[in-house]
Amino acid sequence: MKFSVITFGCQMNVADSNWLILSLQKRGFTLTLKEKEADFVLLNTCSVREKPEQKVYSEIGRFRKKWEQNPSFFVGVGGCVGQQIGEGFFERFPYVRLVFGTDGLYLVPDKIEELLNFPHKRISLLSFEDFYPEREKVFPEKADVSVFVNIMQGCDNFCAYCIVPFTRGRQKSRFKAEVLTECKTLVERGAKEITLLGQNVNSYGQDKYGDGTSFAQLLREVALIHGLKRLRFTTSHPKDLSLEVIRLFGELEVLCPHLHLPLQVGSDRILKIMGRKYTKKRYLDLIEKLRLARPDISFTTDLIVGFPGETEEDFKQTLEVLQIVEFENAYSFKYSDRPGTRAEKMENKVPEEVKQERLIRLQALQEKITQKKYKQVVGKEEEVLIETISKRQGGTNLHFRGRDLWNRVVNIESSRDIRRELVKVRITEAKKHSLVGEVR
Ligand code: SAH
Ligand code: SF4
Ligand code: F3S
Repeated sequence: MKFSVITFGCQMNVADSNWLILSLQKRGFTLTLKEKEADFVLLNTCSVREKPEQKVYSEIGRFRKKWEQNPSFFVGVGGCVGQQIGEGFFERFPYVRLVFGTDGLYLVPDKIEELLNFPHKRISLLSFEDFYPEREKVFPEKADVSVFVNIMQGCDNFCAYCIVPFTRGRQKSRFKAEVLTECKTLVERGAKEITLLGQNVNSYGQDKYGDGTSFAQLLREVALIHGLKRLRFTTSHPKDLSLEVIRLFGELEVLCPHLHLPLQVGSDRILKIMGRKYTKKRYLDLIEKLRLARPDISFTTDLIVGFPGETEEDFKQTLEVLQIVEFENAYSFKYSDRPGTRAEKMENKVPEEVKQERLIRLQALQEKITQKKYKQVVGKEEEVLIETISKRQGGTNLHFRGRDLWNRVVNIESSRDIRRELVKVRITEAKKHSLVGEVR
């Protein structure tokens, strides 16, 4: 029996899909990248922006012919749109036989077996659990060299624009022992880099479902794992970033000098309406403290333009912070209405043209900064963890792709296979979103 998994959205979805694939493989199902050959297809969806429902509908629509030819074929829809639309998918598509949210994910492999045994059944797994649903422990024999480990589920922050607290439920921290076991197993099986994942990792352990471990304590313990070379985490909320965690950037050797710290906007007025609970000054203070703790630290961020009521003055505050901090990179988005959020109900929406124009200005500024930062690296020597062999090959050498300590993508040529290795590299060129290097 063959299956395919299609994944949209954030790294948490990627991690969820990876688990799902391993768990299904353990039960004897075969993963295929050719959807045409699949007996069932699972979609792991994202609803953070725009009209993702439409995209998911058209994705599911692609399989109608296949189902007409083979009535036992079915589709399962999970992730944030799965949670949001739920059984609505059953009404629209006769061949959607499973809908699930992230809290229901751990049951999916069992339920797939049930669906295969009962061809007329449809199953929805949409209830939120009041604990972190531990999943079957399945690990690949050989782990990827860089892996994600989930440390929590959900979010309690309810930023005015954001749908995540509705689609992923309340924050539920995973027990420290479970996180450590997973990290250790992955390192034993060859992982060299771990990224701890959560919507707001800085408040790890502090919800009523957690075991009380602080995020700093968790970092300390993961950092001790023998054989681990690099440790990262994402996403951090500035309001919960503690001094203790900041200090760890200067203390833990394996903690990489890069932090993704979403700013969203630079205007205090808008930050307040968004409910972000920090000011521009507090954000800049954090950046300064982080630089004191680890002078070579680099930053990336998330930005939103055109939040309801955002004026040109407000927008300029965002540009100002970009210039002060000099992020290596920024993921910038036009504000988009999400159902059920506070911002959706606000009246003073910013016109599309204004949002578009601000986005272009912001991205132009950021590109300049990124180029400046990347050019500073040219000529330097650094260590790159090789993750993959590039899709595009050519010439006499092999082409590889990896990341440096600062999470920058580096493309490298080498005459021998250097996959999974930490190699010393000299940076020779700065491209728009990546660097080029040569092995020393
Ligand atoms: N938990 C993380 C990220 C969640 S979603 C955090 O708090 O930082 C990732 C990013 O999508 C957010 O940082 C934000 O910049 C963007 N985003 C979320 N909702 C959005 C919306 N309604 N419109 C535009 N961008 C949005
Ligand atoms: Fe969304 Fe805010 Fe939670 Fe991030 S912290 S997931 S932006 S509600
Ligand atoms: Fe998208 Fe859900 Fe992640 S909305 S960004 S898949 S938390």
